[in-house]
Amino acid sequence: MRLYGKIGLMLTVTTLAFGAPLGVRAQDAGHAAQATMLAPPAQTPWLNKSLSTEERTELLLKEMTQSEKLTLVFGHFGSDGEWLNTRGDIPGLKWTQPAESRPQSAGFVYGVPRLGIPNQWQTDAGIGVASQRGPNPRLRTALPSGIATAATWDRKLAHDGGAMIGREARLSGFNVHLAGSLNTNRDPRNGRTFEYAGEDPLLAGVMVGEQIKGIQSNNIISTIKHLAFNNQETNRFTIDVRIDDTPARMSELLAFQIGIEVGNPGSVMCSYNIVNGQYGCENQWLLTEVLKQDWGYKGYVMSDWGATHSTIPAANNGLDQQSGWPFDKGPYFKGPLKEALDNGHVKPERLDDMARRILWAMFETGVIDNPVAQEITEGTIDLEAHAKITQADAEGGIVLLKNERNLLPLAATAKKIVVIGGHADKGVISGGGSSQVYGVGGNPVEGLGLGPGNDFPGPLTYYPDSPVAALKARTSAEVVYHDGADIKAAVSAARGADVVIVFGTQWMGESFDAPLKLDGNGDDLIAAVAKANKKTVVVLQTGGPVLMPWLKDAGAVIEAWYPGTRGGTAIARVLTGEVNPSGRLPLTFIASESQLPRPVLDGDITKPDLRPTTNYNIEGAAVGYRWHDKHGHKVLFPFGHGLSYTQFTYSGLTSDVVDGRLTARFTVTNSGVRDGSDVPQIYVSPVGGGWEAPKRLGAFDKVHLKAGESQTVSVTVDPRLLANYDSASKTWNIAAGDYEVKLNRSATDQVAAVRVSLPAQKYDVNGK
Ligand code: BGC
Repeated sequence: MRLYGKIGLMLTVTTLAFGAPLGVRAQDAGHAAQATMLAPPAQTPWLNKSLSTEERTELLLKEMTQSEKLTLVFGHFGSDGEWLNTRGDIPGLKWTQPAESRPQSAGFVYGVPRLGIPNQWQTDAGIGVASQRGPNPRLRTALPSGIATAATWDRKLAHDGGAMIGREARLSGFNVHLAGSLNTNRDPRNGRTFEYAGEDPLLAGVMVGEQIKGIQSNNIISTIKHLAFNNQETNRFTIDVRIDDTPARMSELLAFQIGIEVGNPGSVMCSYNIVNGQYGCENQWLLTEVLKQDWGYKGYVMSDWGATHSTIPAANNGLDQQSGWPFDKGPYFKGPLKEALDNGHVKPERLDDMARRILWAMFETGVIDNPVAQEITEGTIDLEAHAKITQADAEGGIVLLKNERNLLPLAATAKKIVVIGGHADKGVISGGGSSQVYGVGGNPVEGLGLGPGNDFPGPLTYYPDSPVAALKARTSAEVVYHDGADIKAAVSAARGADVVIVFGTQWMGESFDAPLKLDGNGDDLIAAVAKANKKTVVVLQTGGPVLMPWLKDAGAVIEAWYPGTRGGTAIARVLTGEVNPSGRLPLTFIASESQLPRPVLDGDITKPDLRPTTNYNIEGAAVGYRWHDKHGHKVLFPFGHGLSYTQFTYSGLTSDVVDGRLTARFTVTNSGVRDGSDVPQIYVSPVGGGWEAPKRLGAFDKVHLKAGESQTVSVTVDPRLLANYDSASKTWNIAAGDYEVKLNRSATDQVAAVRVSLPAQKYDVNGK
């Protein structure tokens, strides 16, 4: 185990020196180094902040040579390739990072110093500043996983977390944050479920959009990714997803559309997979028709690392920047793009459009006006303040799934608490792959993970915030830890306890899909312990849903996801009642794989060259709870579910059409004796049917109430959630008729409902 102290970093803001003639350009190995010589203001009108982003972009674009534009559209892998192994399917690749890129980072794009266009320093990802594998990873604050943040249903927590990790990105010298992970959890086995924001387009779009807004508040660019339908890791580079326009726009594309509206990300990352026969990163329909034409998106599309497959189709169909060379088979957007321009296969206007979009994102977010430091020297990331932010996020996202006989919070009368398994004496688990943040304090449980050398997506990493230590600090009971390796011994330890807390983990990582079960002997261990002692609390740290064959014997279950840097503290605070749990499931926990649209995943992970197809038209827009609703499935825990240590009552539900928008009003009362937070959920449903499923989540809020307190909540339903999309006319259409407006605690727990009559209404492709 390695131990690290407080990281010292200081932001040295690059100063742009004016006074040199336009055209001074320092050279370094064929590239312009980030020189600082700029012409006087009269010759650099694009630096005038009183002009609009569009005006500034045009002024700068017209100064650029073809070769400068080409510079902007070609990205490099930011890390030395000797550390690469299985990642990207290029074992043994030797690659030397550009001298100016930040070590062990995801990517780097040269700037144009003569014009004050900065280098683009790119870092992963959604839970913080990640590091590629190697000897000196950055040690940074990790938020809980994306799915955990989604489980907060709390816009503010998502925004605050984004602002925090964006600040760390900037202080680490990055101006492009490859965050905003939004693929829909169409399948709970998706190995990147932990990175995403669940199965509902509204919840995912809003939560990810808020995170992006927070990140970009640091004057850096955030992506939203991966456009689109990157919904499984098995054969992710080759699988051909089939989905029609209408269900696509009413499911994952709607999530992206909302995420972009809320977050205004500078960039969209296109996906590895094929969609309807065309690779995601050369998909005319997705990149040009939907994103740029229909949604009017002004930022740029960057490829995922290894997702560019051509020059001419990619350029002409909407890709604006090739990323992470040499992950691709060719430097498509370098020499070959110049050649295609010279030959007229790609028009100069298209290169202009690529460069324009990149510049637009830089002006819009403040990357040009507030450049990140060239050199990262010393200074301070306020790790203590950032730890509080991640802890609040973790606490807001922990879901109390089951609590029989009020086993939780832990009784003050308990004299002996036995904690079993999950390395709970050392720390909390995190998800693997490109998004891996290396925690301050090092990895307290080294040596776990896949195969020799902990290859990508490893190393399997824990953060050193021990739930056991945090519990000990909060109870006068004797707390005994047992590692759980020997089930018999764990059972006999459990027998003598007043309360048993057994930890189960499910590690997920980019590049493989995960079975819906706990790692190692986890399920057997919990089954045996829960049988031996009725007062067994199960704490899950999983990337997504698991099946829980032991559920009926467990007294209480909490889902803590991957809870991040302060996860142990967050778990202990929920167990003891210092924090009243308020997370709600952002995706359904199914009872069996037979309830899924594809009980067996398409493809074969052992055959990377296979080119399977997968048919998403089976469920279409009826993703997750909508599918289960439609088929009357009895699931383990429904979408939106989560318990509290207090009780909330709902009253006075009314619904009206105000300014053409459906609104719902109701009062939430904390009728229990503890303070707490609740997530009232409004579902909408056409009485006469006609949707892909009986109902959709229409709106939600998170309310924080002291014991006895009431609050009146008013929410508005986006018209797209009341409509069906019509592909031929590109409009959203609300059918005239009666609609039920349901006030629920979860997708299946309805408290009240009212009917509203709506006239027929038509909205444009953006729901306007
Ligand atoms: C992932 C992206 C990531 C990129 C750069 C890819 O493998 O799919 O999400 O941003 O690598 O590391």
